Formats: sequence, C-alpha cells, structure tokens
Amino acid sequence: MSESNEQPPDLASGVQVTTLADGAMIAGRVGEDEVVLARAGDEFFAVGAHCTHYHGPLADGLIVGDTVRCPWHHACFSLRTGEAVRAPALDSIACWRVERNGDTVFVREKLEPLPTSRPSPAAGGAAAPDSIVIVGGGAAGLAAADMLRREGYLGPVTIISADSAPPVDRPNLSKDYLAGTAQEDWIPLRSPEYYTDQGIELLLDSPVASIDAAGRRVQPANGDTRPFGALLLATGADPVHLSIPGGDNPHVHYLRTFADSRAIVAGAGSAKQAVIAGASFIGLEVAASLRARDIAVHVVAPDEVPLGRVMGPEIGAAIRKLHEEHGVVFHLGQTVARVDDRAVTLSDRSTLLADLVVLGVGVHPSTRLAEQAGLAMDRGIQVDEYLQTSAPGIYAAGDAARWPDPHSGDRIRVEHWVVAERMGQTAAKNMLGRRQRFDMVPFFWSQHYDIAINYTGHAQSWDSVRVDGSVAAFDCAVTYMRGGRRLAVATISRDLESLRAEAEMEGEIRKL
Ligand SMILES: Cc1cc2nc3c(=O)[nH]c(=O)nc-3n(C[C@H](O)[C@H](O)[C@H](O)COP(=O)(O)OP(=O)(O)OC[C@H]3O[C@@H](n4cnc5c(N)ncnc54)[C@H](O)[C@@H]3O)c2cc1C
Ligand code: FES
Repeated sequence: MSESNEQPPDLASGVQVTTLADGAMIAGRVGEDEVVLARAGDEFFAVGAHCTHYHGPLADGLIVGDTVRCPWHHACFSLRTGEAVRAPALDSIACWRVERNGDTVFVREKLEPLPTSRPSPAAGGAAAPDSIVIVGGGAAGLAAADMLRREGYLGPVTIISADSAPPVDRPNLSKDYLAGTAQEDWIPLRSPEYYTDQGIELLLDSPVASIDAAGRRVQPANGDTRPFGALLLATGADPVHLSIPGGDNPHVHYLRTFADSRAIVAGAGSAKQAVIAGASFIGLEVAASLRARDIAVHVVAPDEVPLGRVMGPEIGAAIRKLHEEHGVVFHLGQTVARVDDRAVTLSDRSTLLADLVVLGVGVHPSTRLAEQAGLAMDRGIQVDEYLQTSAPGIYAAGDAARWPDPHSGDRIRVEHWVVAERMGQTAAKNMLGRRQRFDMVPFFWSQHYDIAINYTGHAQSWDSVRVDGSVAAFDCAVTYMRGGRRLAVATISRDLESLRAEAEMEGEIRKL
C-alpha cells in the first residue's frame, strides 16, 4: 500500500506506550476529528491536530514541558488545557481525555472547551486598574485586549485606533491577500461579535491627539477625552515616506494598512509593470505577490544583496535567485529618484516603465504621542523588562517599543508580528499587576513563493556565520554568532530546528 493511502491511526482503539517516546507525538484521529497524541515525561495528552493560527500541523512541532509548539510560526499551546499560551495563535485547541490501561493509552471523549475568560485574583484585586485604554488597533493592541479578558479582567477595555479597519492580519497584506489567494473575510483578526461578546470597545478612525500622563487621560482627535487607570501604547510603526518628485502620484503606494493593500490590489488590476523600491521583506513579498498576478516586477534598492542586512549574503543571494527565477528583475545599488506618470527614474538616470509603484523602504516607530506625553525615548518608546514606560501605569508594546532583551543583552526594538502580539499579552498581564518579565526570544517569518524563512533570536550584527545544510537547495539552518555565542538562527525547511533553537535560547536566558 502506498504511504498516501495509509489511514491515520484510530487513537480511540489504543496506542502502545512503547511506541511513543518522551517528547514524541502521533497524528491520528478520534471519530471524525484529527487528534495528536503527545507524551511529556510519563504523561499522555490528546489535543486537536491543527494550530488555530494558520492550521499548522502540531504533530510536526515540539513539546516543551507540558506545551506543544507549532512548527510554522511558534505558537504555543498548553497540552493540559489547550490554551494558546503564546501568540500568534489566540484561540485554544480542543483536548481529549486520555486513559492509560497497562501498556496501552486510549484517547476517550472530547473535553469541554476552555472558557474564554477565567477568574483570576489579580484581575479584580487591588493591583487591577479601574479601566484600561489601548492606543493602537494592531497586533499588540488586540493581543493585549484579548489577554485582559482571558485573565478575567472585568473593567472597561477600550481600543482606540487611527485605522478605519478593525485589527487585521497584517502579515497577510503583502502575501496571500495581495497575491489574490486570501479572501477578504480572512483578514480581520476577530469578528465584530467578538468585540461585543468580550465587552471590548473598539473606536476606529480615532487617532489619539495627546496624552495627559499625570491626569491619566487621552484625547482622541475627534472625540471625547477618555480617562484611564492603565494605558497601553501600541501605536506600531509608519512607513518611511520618500520625498522625491512624483512621490505622491496616485499610482505610488506604501503598504501598512488593509486600505493600502486594497489600493495596491486595485492598481494591480490594470497594471502591466510594477517598480518596487526596497529589497527587504515587504518589498520582496510584494514582488512575489505581484508576480502571482502576472505583473512584470522590477525591484530597485541601494543594497548589494536583498535581505543582506538582516540575513547576510548567504540567504540573501539564494532569495535573489529565487525571485529572479520567478521573473523579478533587480536593480541593486540604485534608488528611485523620481516618478512620472508611466516611468520611474533611478539614481543612475536610467528609466523603467511602471504603471504601479510600491515604496517599501522601511518604517519608523510611531512615537509622536509618547514624546508629547513626555515619556522617556530611546529610538522608540523606552520600556523596562515589564514593558512599563517611564510613567507608572503606562505601558508600551510592539513595533514602537524598545525593551531590554536578556538574550542579546541589548535594548532592542524589532518589527515582528509574533513579538508585538506577545508583548501585548505580557503588558496586559502586567497592567493587572502580574510583574511578568518580557523575556521571550524574538521570532519572525517571511514568505517568498513557496519558501518560508523562520528567524529565531536577534542579531543586530555578527562576526561569524555557520551554515548547516544547503542554502541554495532551501534546506538549511544559518546561525549568526558574535564572540562565539549564538545570537540568532534562520532556517528554511527546518522548522523543528527553529523550534529547538528557540527553546535552547530560552534555556540560556533562564541561566543568566
Ligand atoms: C505588509 C506587512 C507584512 C508583514 N509581514 C510580517 C511577517 O511576515 N512576519 C512578521 O514577523 N512581521 C511582519 N510584519 C510586521 C508586523 O506586521 C508588525 O511587526 C506588527 O504589526 C506590529 O504590531 P504593532 O501592534 O506594534 O503595530 P501595528 O500592527 O502597526 O498597529 C499599530 C496601530 O496603532 C494605530 N495608531 C498609530 N498611531 C495612533 C494614534 N495616534 N492614535 C490611535 N491609533 C494609532 C494604527 O492605526 C494601528 O492600528 C509585516 C508588516 C507589514 C506592514
Ligand atoms: S500556523 Fe501555527 S503558529 Fe502559525
């Protein structure tokens, strides 16, 4: 019988204990449900087979303690309760009762789902603020609001966002949505009912104009003053705008919001050739998505190697080749000097035809509010290990915040989806008086056609690189080191190695 015809094992009819080593998992089924049976030490657990983020196969992930981590983007679920204890998954997975009888374990009935909110002494105790305002409706803001309710906080929670869209799956905006393979209704992170059910007030189209830190009030530009007991600044980052002639023409786009992505999709409808400024993650993901729409793509960037600053020349060269094989033409060592109706002029005065232009030349942290409020700044909003700013009761999370990273020993600010969400979750707990350090190892992913790069850790600079496997064959782990110490690991097609690196780096932090 060929492997593809094999049925997943029926876990209800029992599995021999000896076939499941400590830390191992078996993907099987119970009735109609796909279930994973996992062993952690001498305990056995049965949970839903798929991650609630993008449906990653949990059986290919890693067991750490009594949790399972998803191989795709490192979400983490409790094996005991199914709770999504770490973003990017926000929803729990189902659990089944497991019974051991001698040398056989049986997966029995499905257990009651976890309540979305659990009573917690801290959430209602003296340390809990009487109301919480979150400025910013993005990754960090939503994850924080979600965690406040999960932790049982019953007071008013308000998200005030400048965006006209509710919190969205921003990474999708340069990938499947832009390529035309993700539906419109996949993009909001939560349904409208979620906000009503959870009692989270969501004020959209409401840029906050100022904060009165001493008076504990925020002032939306177009609404009433809002008092707060605790405040989270999750204002993210804004695209760097190029001041070049023609830079504000209607066919020139930046990409940060759902509206931006929709505008590019609309422009792509009639476009034959696009010029993208920037050969970093956003620029290259946009290139791949526009190629999926059969638009000719030219990428213009000052760099020698795409992604080189973050990933180094090894991965950069392989990713460049991948894009070239998909028809992308690179103009490296160049910048965009001007944009006319149907042409783009480069710094060497050559011109490219373009009926669509996307400028993806980086972002800067959105710190205007924090500066106005007189908070301490450090190339971003300065926060301590509990994500509190220099003003008590005011926290910051996500792209805007710079925190002391225990692994690298540096104060860092990153622009990663998972980090922003996890910072939001930790800030939420700390607003309830939990005093939980933010000591998670940074993680991000990037997708180029069918190649995904996972990156764990943080290497601002490095003095040596170790390559295991073949970068050219897209089967590799690239380790970035400084002074002999591992700072970060980038993997392609080696998800388990990425998870192991994350767990090992966490272990190193615990020893510090
Ligand atoms: C197209 C795209 C693709 C990406 N892909 C990936 C990826 O594949 N992997 C990855 O790890 N990361 C990716 N990122 C980065 C990731 O999306 C960010 O790191 C993450 O969104 C940061 O979350 P945040 O909450 O800090 O900010 P954001 O998600 O940007 O949210 C900030 C919010 O604050 C609001 N705001 C700002 N100022 C004010 C104000 N004065 N008043 C009220 N509201 C305000 C904004 O309107 C917005 O709602 C991508 C980013 C983009 C743009
Ligand atoms: S699919 Fe599991 S973390 Fe993304």
